[in-house]
Amino acid sequence: MINVTMISIYHDHCHIDHYWNGCARQNSVARHRCRGLAKRMDVERFDPATDAGAVRACYDIHLAAAAADKQRRPPMSPRPFRSWLTLGWTEDPSEAWLARDNDGQACGFYLLTLPQRENRHTAGLNPVVHPSRRRAGVGTALVAHAAARAHNAGRTVLTGHTAEASAGEAFARALGARYRMTGIFPVLRLDSMPAGHLAALRAKAESASPGYSLLTWEGQAPKDLLEDVVVLFQAEEDAPRGAGEEAEQWDAARVRADERRTADQGLRFYTVAARAGAGGELVAITQLGVDPAQPGWAVQELTAVVKPHRGHRLGLRVKVAMLDLLAEREPQVAQILSHNAGGNEHMIAINTELGFEVLEQQPSWELEVANAPAMASPAGPAMA
Ligand SMILES: CC(C)(COP(=O)(O)OP(=O)(O)OC[C@H]1O[C@@H](n2cnc3c(N)ncnc32)[C@H](O)[C@@H]1OP(=O)(O)O)[C@@H](O)C(=O)NCCC(=O)NCCS
Repeated sequence: MINVTMISIYHDHCHIDHYWNGCARQNSVARHRCRGLAKRMDVERFDPATDAGAVRACYDIHLAAAAADKQRRPPMSPRPFRSWLTLGWTEDPSEAWLARDNDGQACGFYLLTLPQRENRHTAGLNPVVHPSRRRAGVGTALVAHAAARAHNAGRTVLTGHTAEASAGEAFARALGARYRMTGIFPVLRLDSMPAGHLAALRAKAESASPGYSLLTWEGQAPKDLLEDVVVLFQAEEDAPRGAGEEAEQWDAARVRADERRTADQGLRFYTVAARAGAGGELVAITQLGVDPAQPGWAVQELTAVVKPHRGHRLGLRVKVAMLDLLAEREPQVAQILSHNAGGNEHMIAINTELGFEVLEQQPSWELEVANAPAMASPAGPAMA
């Protein structure tokens, strides 16, 4: 099913012609600030799993935006990007929409994610506008469009994140979004680790955790360990979150879906886990992926220790073992990129001990759908 919305943007006045499977409707845009673009913009939903042309157009915008915004971490490569448009980061249903001007030029896109289990009142929004088309109301129009979609899906709050001190942050503030929290992207440059540092950390972690053994696997978790892995994913529930944000509830099906997502991204995906004794349950985990298209980088995913086993340096121990595994299996990796909630003291302390340094910060935001720029008719948002 393809939806097309046409937004005409004139000085201080806009019209939207909305089509849904051939049905047309027209709404005037009242609260929506649109200036300077005496052009019409079509916003079209597409299926990222099948529409390679639309994905390519979004990818070009993604690359241009990363360069313009001086993003320090590498932009996603094409396969993870397509996978993100299809599955998001959480496997929740999502909608990808591409905006083109009346010359057919792609000028922006957004991905709207609709959480299905927790935080069902929210919709995650990622709008991106091509740098050459900014400050002309396109971003505001995309948020208005997305807000109407979120409203129709019964969502009352839009959530999103931006780079720190960026156009995105200024945009979020201009829309009146509320600040939620800041995430950080720490990076470890392996060639900057002093000689002997890793060996010293390994000795320290091993001497603090004598009653534990390690195991590793690549790809999906072995079937007999799946229930333990569910418990480890759940152990992340006490990591800092935005106010009022519900923690994810994990089960075997959800872990398998997460594994399908990393497989769809094309990552080589490694896990190191610690178990109690030689054959007890799993109590700590760390996971990391390497994108074959960016083999110099590894991207850290989950690290967690279950509560009863915290305080034995198991977080450090599995991460040091992961570095050992990388040296053996991915010797070309030069940098490891991680992502933490800014207040996650214990995780950040481990990363700092290893030598990670903060590369970028990422504030996150929320905006009531009712306060979003609206493609407003007197009756409110009227998207199908
Ligand atoms: C954020 C983004 C989507 C804005 O797109 P845009 O088309 O330029 O947005 P608009 O023209 O609708 O801007 C609306 C208002 O936001 C504010 N704003 C936007 N960019 C700004 C900037 N670089 N500096 C200061 N204010 C800015 C202004 O108040 C602007 O109104 P004005 O131009 O009349 O002053 C675009 O910069 C982008 O793609 N950034 C990278 C991705 C991102 O951060 N997305 C936001 C996630 S929430």
